[in-house]
Amino acid sequence: MATDSPFKLAVLISGEGSNLQAIINAIDAGTLDARIEIVISNKSNAKGLNRATRTGITAVVVPPVRGQSREEYDQRLLDTLAPFAPDLVVLAGFMRILSTGFVHSYAHRIINIHPSLLPAYKGMNTHQRVLDARERFHGATVHFVTEQLDDGEMIIQSRIEIEADDDAASLQQRVHAEEHVIYPRAIQWLSEQRKRA
Ligand code: GRF
Repeated sequence: MATDSPFKLAVLISGEGSNLQAIINAIDAGTLDARIEIVISNKSNAKGLNRATRTGITAVVVPPVRGQSREEYDQRLLDTLAPFAPDLVVLAGFMRILSTGFVHSYAHRIINIHPSLLPAYKGMNTHQRVLDARERFHGATVHFVTEQLDDGEMIIQSRIEIEADDDAASLQQRVHAEEHVIYPRAIQWLSEQRKRA
């Protein structure tokens, strides 16, 4: 059903939130037709929380509780999200694996950005691992989230060539810059798709 209502986002973070900032900037610049309804962090000291609040976006911490299962935690996430009725859940450096129940609740409506050319280099420390393997290319991938880690249908990828003097820190910086371009773009595509649907 075609709609003119805003494309509502929930952004989940754990840290710096530079991708969150890129999304906020794209909305402000008018290149991303969406609205961030809520930012959720599992960590109370996530810098990204300030990026949200200073823009007037609701920011909520859902801290893990000792002894609580992944399913119980994710139920709290679902309860927190429900009143905001997001069209899309955007994982932006959210350092938790989501349960099957959560993924099913937002089936095909959760996306993630990962710092590698998936399906290569799932998991952590991707920058050092591509250097150790003497890869020629590296990059970032936006993909739909499934129960499998860093899996799911790809939406967009950005590739960079690794330079002779690159180290893990320079690669992280260069890949981050690519992420900040492709993440808002991917969300805009999904927003347009919904408008046309
Ligand atoms: C990014 O490198 C992203 O690819 C990964 O986590 C990092 C988040 O960075 N999933 P930031 O918090 O958006 O700055």
